[in-house]
Amino acid sequence: MIGVIGGTGTTGRGVVAALQAKGADFRCLVRDTAKAAETLGSDVELVQADVADPATIEAGLAGCDKLFLLTGHSPVMGEQQISAIEAAKRAGVTHVVKLSGGDAIVQEVTEAKIGRAHWEIEQALQASGLEWTILRPGFFMQNFLNMAGMVKGQGKVMMPVPADVAIGMIDVRDTGDVAAEILTSEGHNGKSYFLAGIEATPSDFTAALSSELGKEIPFIQVPLEGAVGAMKERGMPDWLIDHQATLMTILAEGNMGGTNGYVEQFSGHAPRTLEGFVKDNAGAFRD
Ligand SMILES: NC(=O)c1ccc[n+]([C@@H]2O[C@H](COP(=O)([O-])OP(=O)(O)OC[C@H]3O[C@@H](n4cnc5c(N)ncnc54)[C@H](OP(=O)(O)O)[C@@H]3O)[C@@H](O)[C@H]2O)c1
Repeated sequence: MIGVIGGTGTTGRGVVAALQAKGADFRCLVRDTAKAAETLGSDVELVQADVADPATIEAGLAGCDKLFLLTGHSPVMGEQQISAIEAAKRAGVTHVVKLSGGDAIVQEVTEAKIGRAHWEIEQALQASGLEWTILRPGFFMQNFLNMAGMVKGQGKVMMPVPADVAIGMIDVRDTGDVAAEILTSEGHNGKSYFLAGIEATPSDFTAALSSELGKEIPFIQVPLEGAVGAMKERGMPDWLIDHQATLMTILAEGNMGGTNGYVEQFSGHAPRTLEGFVKDNAGAFRD
């Protein structure tokens, strides 16, 4: 039995869909079972649990031998995931598959707070005595959905990065396919996989979007200070603004490029493309 933490989120929904497609035996540990049933459907086994309360994680993982672990951005992500790993061990889990950050941000010394927290969790997992696999995805294509309002309202995409900077990207549905394969097969203990199905630029995204919408959507590089100001206006907490600003700097400097064959190797299909992502999500970008 596989326990899944984070199954209702952007990536987690891909993991759940892929586990269902494989007919795998799994259970999602969720904070709110009613809300999760609306998101995931009534045929997914759900149990109430919260990483803020390790006893609920231990109870929820009873009978599980594997755990997929992901929680969203939070200033307490590090301590919560580490205590979830300890709870998993007490529950009898033998192998944890952790969804981490991309290679460029998971560092011992970094201004990217979430990157530092992922590094600490990875260290704790590797020292836990449990079997482990670490998935380090590149830039989620689904991040572009955050720009849907800008596309609809202003007809353009603005980011504080060069239009032609190469970025290793992945569609979260591919992450789900890879994670499901790793959770249901052997040979992944002690492995860390950087997952980027394709390498593309911000202007590749706007080109794909322009073609799909049938009108020109320009990409405009804006100063980082402007992007930080916009995040402040939206009421984003300071720690998250700091993290995002660091991330954008790493991205702008061209340090988040690269791709490899893991998506195809583990999913058994070609990586999803930007064009496919845009087509499948076109409704979000249309007026
Ligand atoms: N965006 C990128 O380009 C990128 C690239 C590489 C790595 N990452 C990493 O990906 C992760 C975010 O993935 P995502 O976007 O798929 O996340 P997400 O959509 O924010 O989903 C977070 C999930 O965690 C669950 N969760 C949050 N707090 C919890 C708690 N206290 N107890 C139990 N479950 C909890 C949420 O459940 P509820 O339904 O209860 O909210 C939800 O299912 C981050 O660690 C980030 O560093 C992101």
